[in-house]
Amino acid sequence: MELRFDGKTALITGGARGIGYATAKMLAEGGARVALLDIKGDLVQDSARKLSAESGAKAVGLKADITSEQDVDAAVTRVIESLGPVDILISSAAIADDKLFLDSGPSDWRRMIDVCLHAPMLCLHKVLPGMVSRRYGRVVCLASDSARLGQARLSYYAAAKAGVIALVKSVAQEVGKSGVTLNVVSPGATNTELRQEREAQMRAQMGEERYQRRVQTVLRMYPTGRLGEPDDIAWAIAFLASENASWITGQVVSVNGGFAMP
Ligand SMILES: NC(=O)c1ccc[n+]([C@@H]2O[C@H](COP(=O)([O-])OP(=O)(O)OC[C@H]3O[C@@H](n4cnc5c(N)ncnc54)[C@H](O)[C@@H]3O)[C@@H](O)[C@H]2O)c1
Repeated sequence: MELRFDGKTALITGGARGIGYATAKMLAEGGARVALLDIKGDLVQDSARKLSAESGAKAVGLKADITSEQDVDAAVTRVIESLGPVDILISSAAIADDKLFLDSGPSDWRRMIDVCLHAPMLCLHKVLPGMVSRRYGRVVCLASDSARLGQARLSYYAAAKAGVIALVKSVAQEVGKSGVTLNVVSPGATNTELRQEREAQMRAQMGEERYQRRVQTVLRMYPTGRLGEPDDIAWAIAFLASENASWITGQVVSVNGGFAMP
């Protein structure tokens, strides 16, 4: 069975690259009109052009810092004007910060909570009224298994993502009868630029020999014997964003190669 999104408009934050882009491609190939929002202005426009060329779907790429209420308002207004009301929200934008809690401080925490919790709230708050009034909506937010299990060196990222899980479950209870579902996809380590950038930093800090040992240790934690690829995560997101998933709401789906079985 092929997932179809004909006639639907999807808005994807952090859609310029990584898991967001992989999801955008799947939805576009299934017939959705797609809007990519990203703080990386040039990349998001290139990605939207590539998406259109590869899928034949209507796609727009908008530069927006989703921590800014003004940017979110302006971007959503432009999406509605050019593609129609938003039926699907995929909240993928995030940053990561590898630091021990005691080496971090309030400005680190504030920035993380702003990007990873406050911004998804802003975007949801902006598109949800339209979904409720049209009695249809699909929201999928990206969290992380670090939010479910805790993870050293990712304490405030994990805390912000745990907030997203609580937000999704709570709002899912509020709007369930309006035909709007909200779910969370919680990836394990996935080969995206975000991960590659963090790994490059670690490699530089640790030196080659220690870093290679770390790579093997991480791999041993994955019963499937490999890390994730963006499409592994996008398949789960696309299913939850489809009409077929109408009886799944308020759930957290770990897509993690068996890394954790919470
Ligand atoms: N890659 C992994 O291993 C992994 C693991 C667990 C969870 N996740 C989660 O999956 C999601 C996607 O991760 P990814 O690996 O594809 O990341 P990525 O860095 O490749 O993509 C994220 C995008 O978000 C954008 N972004 C960041 N801050 C923004 C802002 N303020 N406004 C607008 N855009 C902004 C970035 O420019 C980037 O293009 C994230 O929520 C991440 O926390 C990823």
